Amino acid sequence: MSKPRLWITRRLSDATLERAARDYDTVVNHDDTPGSAQDIIAASAEFDAIIPCHSEHFSADVAAQLDPRLKIIANHSVGVDHCDLPALKARGITVTNTPDVLSDATGELAMLLMLGAARHAVAGDRIVREGKWDFWSPSFMVGKQVTGARLGIIGMGRVGRAFAAKARGFDMEIHYYNRSELPTAQAKGAIYHDTVESLLGVADFLSLHCPATPETTNLMNAERFALLPHGAVMVNSARGALVDESALLAALKTGQLAAAGLDCFQVEPGGNPAFAAHDNIFMLPHIGSATTRTRDAMGFRALDNLDAFFTGETPKDTL
Ligand code: DGY
Repeated sequence: MSKPRLWITRRLSDATLERAARDYDTVVNHDDTPGSAQDIIAASAEFDAIIPCHSEHFSADVAAQLDPRLKIIANHSVGVDHCDLPALKARGITVTNTPDVLSDATGELAMLLMLGAARHAVAGDRIVREGKWDFWSPSFMVGKQVTGARLGIIGMGRVGRAFAAKARGFDMEIHYYNRSELPTAQAKGAIYHDTVESLLGVADFLSLHCPATPETTNLMNAERFALLPHGAVMVNSARGALVDESALLAALKTGQLAAAGLDCFQVEPGGNPAFAAHDNIFMLPHIGSATTRTRDAMGFRALDNLDAFFTGETPKDTL
């Protein structure tokens, strides 16, 4: 029997590509450029399966034009805001993602953003690197201490919980908002708030871990920044759509926010050029899950989903 034809839209880890080539008739976009709507529509007539990343957009318009040959989209991402799930389901296409395997890497990065933003990591590095470290003073680069501080987490899913586990190592008092309260064993002492507003009132540090949906677009807006304790630090390692970037900048300028750590932006790649002039924004280029171990695990999880599908089972991560 011939192997299913698989299109891999980006250059995934070597281990993933080796396994894919063994089990599927695989074509890889070694150029590593994001697939356009036209590329996706054309591929749907040639391939039974696609492994895309969050850089390929399956809008309702694209979904309507897909060839019936395409049976499964096995995303190499946990976030699926690049996929119009109802439209793809209506076309009978199975869609999966890669939960769990990237939670620690992303939680780690959120911790880096929080520490880096709180302790002026970017400005400090630049001053040393550029040979401008020509004085020291007790009032020089004084930051905000993370240890023992109150942390607010919005979205206590897998990544939120992985981040909370790391924050416990810093003795943080953890508060969270989530659609529903976690069972005690999962909350591990974290304090539940049933509204975002109530959480913001106590969050000296705030970290966003919810998916981008129409309901969470601009979740952090001017009104909500105003509810944080003065001088709070916000971290976003989830999706840029969660933050109104003009409101964020305004809150940073007034000092309502002392600093922000961002791995995600409204516009990606590129980010927000208006942020570049602000030393109190610590920015990274959407690399939350970018560790060798996690990239392999994401690739393997996407392939596990494909294997299940092509052996007639329901893939574990079917959405
Ligand atoms: C995810 O998995 O959603 C990450 O943002 C990388 O795509």
